[in-house]
Amino acid sequence: MNPEEYRLVVSSGPTREWIDPVRYISNPSSGRTGWAIATKGVSLFKEVIFISGPVISKYSSVKNATNIHVDTTEDMAKAVHEWIGDKTILIMAAAPADFTARKASDHKIKKTSSESHHIELLPTRDILKSLKGKKFNSFIKVGFAAETNDVENYALKKLKDKKLDYICANQVFKQNMGFGENINTLTIYSKKGSTKTIGPGDKKKLAGQLIKYLIRDIV
Ligand code: CTP
Repeated sequence: MNPEEYRLVVSSGPTREWIDPVRYISNPSSGRTGWAIATKGVSLFKEVIFISGPVISKYSSVKNATNIHVDTTEDMAKAVHEWIGDKTILIMAAAPADFTARKASDHKIKKTSSESHHIELLPTRDILKSLKGKKFNSFIKVGFAAETNDVENYALKKLKDKKLDYICANQVFKQNMGFGENINTLTIYSKKGSTKTIGPGDKKKLAGQLIKYLIRDIV
């Protein structure tokens, strides 16, 4: 495919689900992978839309892209729905928070003695799954699966359940989650049944190789 005819939409970083005005549920995603993919895409695609959750300023905006800053998973879902369409490649590199409080408190929750405190959690919207019914021409969905174990099985399950065109799987370890310039490999599974492993390399190198691979593989 010719990337000059395509829009690239990249989601990146974590999202936050607020429990009360000063506390939230989130995860340590740095946003570096999404940022590296979008940065690489700017020189190749017709346009790049970069949708980022709260991350350090270095990774929150991409030069020459349309930058959209979101907070919650629902904000991210709305932004993704707004920017997808015909001739679009969506790469969901974000790690949206999976749970939200059924009812966030409008005031700071106080510690009352040593009693345990219960917060009922509901699942947030699965953004990729929510796109299942979208029937655009040449709309390609790419997901990520960062797994601690059984990487291939979980990745293939996500590829199918979320009806993706590609899933990029890698193994993560607690000490590397979100931080550190660790060297990793990425295995890309496609719905056509092909498998391609790229790397080893840092996130910047893997981002470049992933974009190159997609451009070559998408017809
Ligand atoms: N994702 C999404 N919406 C969510 C959560 C995740 O679209 N609410 C996307 C991620 O951006 C990623 C893919 O789904 O591209 C897989 O995310 P991951 O966190 O690995 O999987 P989950 O579906 O959240 O499942 P689990 O946490 O049980 O592994």
